[in-house]
Amino acid sequence: WQCVEKYLQPFQLSPETLQEVSARLRKDLLRGLGKHSHHKAPVKMLPTFVRATPDGTEKGDFLALDLGGTNFRVLHVRVEEEAQKVLKMDSQICAIPQEMMLGTGEQLFDHIATCLGDFLESHNLKGQTLPLGFTFSFPCEQLEIDKSILIRWTKGFNCSGVEGKDVVQLLKEAIHRRGDYHIGSVAMVNDTVGTMMSCGYKDQSCEIGMIIGTGTNACYMEEIKNVKRIEGEDGRMCINTEWGGFGDDGCLDDILTEFDVEVDKTSINPGVHIFEKMISGMYLGEIVRLVLVKMTKDKLLFKGQISEALGTRGLFETKFISEIEDGLENAKKILTELGLDWSLVDASVVRLVCDTISSRSAYLCAAALATLVNRIRNNRKLGHLKTTVGVDGTVYRKHPTFSSKLQKAVRLLAPQCDITFLVSEDGSGKGAAMVTAVAQRPAHQSRLLEESDGEDNEEEEEEEGQ
Ligand code: BGC
Repeated sequence: WQCVEKYLQPFQLSPETLQEVSARLRKDLLRGLGKHSHHKAPVKMLPTFVRATPDGTEKGDFLALDLGGTNFRVLHVRVEEEAQKVLKMDSQICAIPQEMMLGTGEQLFDHIATCLGDFLESHNLKGQTLPLGFTFSFPCEQLEIDKSILIRWTKGFNCSGVEGKDVVQLLKEAIHRRGDYHIGSVAMVNDTVGTMMSCGYKDQSCEIGMIIGTGTNACYMEEIKNVKRIEGEDGRMCINTEWGGFGDDGCLDDILTEFDVEVDKTSINPGVHIFEKMISGMYLGEIVRLVLVKMTKDKLLFKGQISEALGTRGLFETKFISEIEDGLENAKKILTELGLDWSLVDASVVRLVCDTISSRSAYLCAAALATLVNRIRNNRKLGHLKTTVGVDGTVYRKHPTFSSKLQKAVRLLAPQCDITFLVSEDGSGKGAAMVTAVAQRPAHQSRLLEESDGEDNEEEEEEEGQ
């Protein structure tokens, strides 16, 4: 076991290290918000033009599109004021084949327009012009609620001709090429924002949205006066942090392991989204695989024999981590399926490796979330903050102990904050409708003024431009 420890020790982050990570992110949030520093900031802090969370008066019928994981979804959503409910009327999934994720933008958007067209046709909605919320889970520079420039692809996507372009325009052009239906006003939404907004109908103190799935990210309500890159003083705006990019300037190099470096090098976007690559579902399985390969090469596991599956990039899936940690029997079954000649000790070591790597992910997320809640508390000059985080993503939902580890660590790192975690049901779809509904709310403008507290935050001034 001592030999095993040697491999795992670099993944074990002490509470002090996590505090240090949180402090570094705290500085990076400021860089991202700064007027002059945001261009080069690794944590982009993107304004979303969502200025208010739901207040319960929203209503109507909406379409929602959801692109960001492996599937693309179309939804018809109804927001009911009386029942304070967001109802999913119908939805349809369209697979996005791997070639399309790496093909041209035109192919991708034509495919989206086709799926939407088929959905409208089969649900008799073609004659209506419904407002549309588009959950597009990639970093976008949002110029208005319906103008959103893709900064870069992340996760498995890399379609040509989309980076630097307005995604709403590309969608409209694709619909226009078909010419058989129309859509109403469009609201662009990141999945974190959708998640926050969908929980916000149920719990109006939900001011943070967090995703730990294929990718990872969070958004939160920031005071507009602190967002130096946009004009305005009053009220709050939801900021899409894009915390996946934390570390892209090398500031996390001291905690990266050789395995993280390898995962980054062999990814389709080397050098970017370093934090995401230590945390999210797209990468966790691969980190575990690389550790197991190294241990096997060093004759610590499987009698020194690497099976073909274990030797192949991407074949150790992140869902195996959840399953293996869930029970020894699962571990045995998966190791057999991977063609490995395992002993009982091997199976226990593999469980320990999985536990170490998923725990690191949970603790890093906790450090990042602690930074956000501490910031909200400081912004409002509160001794104690009570707030709600809307959460979604397969890693958070499916892993047996991830959420409890994360929650425990946040309590340690942000002791003056009392956080309720709400798992969002269908946040990307319902939340997109909610953003569209809030944007259309007549009382929106007056609420903006009520929310202003008019205090200055000197710290921002000091650090801005660094
Ligand atoms: C994207 C974010 C998204 C997150 C979770 C990241 O790769 O950059 O925009 O919110 O994945 O889906």
